[in-house]
Amino acid sequence: MLTDAATAATAHPAPGGPVRIALVGAGIRGGIYGRWVAEHADRAQVVAVAEPDDDRRAGVRAAHRLAPEAAYADWRALLQGPRPADVAVITTQDADHAEPAVAFAAAGYDILLEKPIAPTEHDCRRVVEAVREAGVVFGVCHVLRYAPYTQVLRELLAQGRIGEIVSVDHVEPVGFDHYAHSYVRGNWRRTDTSAPMLLAKSCHDLDWLLHVVGRPARSVTSYGGLRLFRPENRPAEAADRCPDCALRRTCAYSAETIYGRHLAAGDLDWPLSVLTPHPTAESVAEALRTGPYGRCVWACDNDVVDHQVVALEFDGGATATFTMAAFTTDRPRTTSIFGTLGELHCDADTIRVTDFRTLATEEIRLPAPGGDKLLSGHSGGDAGLMDAFVRAVATRDPAWIGRSAEEALAAHELVFAAERARLERRVVEL
Ligand SMILES: NC(=O)c1ccc[n+]([C@@H]2O[C@H](COP(=O)([O-])OP(=O)(O)OC[C@H]3O[C@@H](n4cnc5c(N)ncnc54)[C@H](O)[C@@H]3O)[C@@H](O)[C@H]2O)c1
Repeated sequence: MLTDAATAATAHPAPGGPVRIALVGAGIRGGIYGRWVAEHADRAQVVAVAEPDDDRRAGVRAAHRLAPEAAYADWRALLQGPRPADVAVITTQDADHAEPAVAFAAAGYDILLEKPIAPTEHDCRRVVEAVREAGVVFGVCHVLRYAPYTQVLRELLAQGRIGEIVSVDHVEPVGFDHYAHSYVRGNWRRTDTSAPMLLAKSCHDLDWLLHVVGRPARSVTSYGGLRLFRPENRPAEAADRCPDCALRRTCAYSAETIYGRHLAAGDLDWPLSVLTPHPTAESVAEALRTGPYGRCVWACDNDVVDHQVVALEFDGGATATFTMAAFTTDRPRTTSIFGTLGELHCDADTIRVTDFRTLATEEIRLPAPGGDKLLSGHSGGDAGLMDAFVRAVATRDPAWIGRSAEEALAAHELVFAAERARLERRVVEL
């Protein structure tokens, strides 16, 4: 499939020169990474884009001053021509990760791939084999690893501040409105078209637990299901669309209310930018009248879970529980870590460590991530990831990424095992 020109072109950034990036997919995530690049022009440049949506492609062209010939409607077309970039940042939808990842790796591109690597174990392995064979730098966007609070937390654990980790309790409050947006009305509502919730959303959390505990998992089980947004729970008066519904002023999940809050706050990025490329009161109202995000939450074709717990045992015997809860307000994840000499409680803002020998508690306030709202996403993890990945490519030292492709695969395998455990109601040994 690849031309000689593509395979023969030189790969790596000139020493000291900016890393040249091809954005493969210029949706919400591609836009965030593109914005980081624009703010770090001395370190990286977007030099090409592949994106079928005309509006989004034009947006990247304008933002990065790309010539028309550097913009492609499909990633395959980008691979056909002379190689313009060192790196492919692949931010297509879940089911469209494996194919471009394998192809760009074969063409010698370093790759930053959105999570999940792929929706099936087979495709995850295929991608990891391809990047291993090609010997390219490979990062997966498990952004929580790169959040500054994760780094502070790991330093405290490495200093032995709570002794040996014995158990962990980690909670992901998804947010009732975020859940309704992404997992009932939106792109990740169905396992067959995207992925199970644990892979689509909480693969971050299982990966993060592996990172923080610092040992492989050896056994896992899980429970969970879809409790609320099922057709049989639909209120009798509910209409198929929120703008037509008698309950639209009182329903907690009314699309008019949820998106109206963002409009009223003048917050025109995510999630409004998912509804319409240029959010205004009129364009959002039109999207709610005609598009998927105006549908009644009880009249969607969703099937992913709204609550799930995972119980894990690590090598060495430490255990962890993870809870994904849809029905929460919008707030950071919370974690408690119980050690032989102390305990630690944290979220993205604060870490509190108590030492059993003195009963002293230290409270560490974490600085709010700087930059605009988009770049500070995932408690600074989005920017931290880009910083680490670009550094790894520029120095040809994958150690900056902090883990190998095989370790990224292991995190995915843990998710698949946990989901198997839930579906088959059993314990899975790893
Ligand atoms: N790391 C995180 O925290 C995080 C958060 C949200 C989403 N994600 C993941 O990021 C990925 C993208 O999510 P998104 O919200 O940006 O989705 P999106 O739908 O906004 O963007 C995907 C883009 O890929 C484009 N595309 C489709 N076919 C293409 C092709 N052949 N060539 C080039 N581009 C093509 C689409 O037109 C679209 O613009 C998903 O896999 C999602 O699970 C990760």
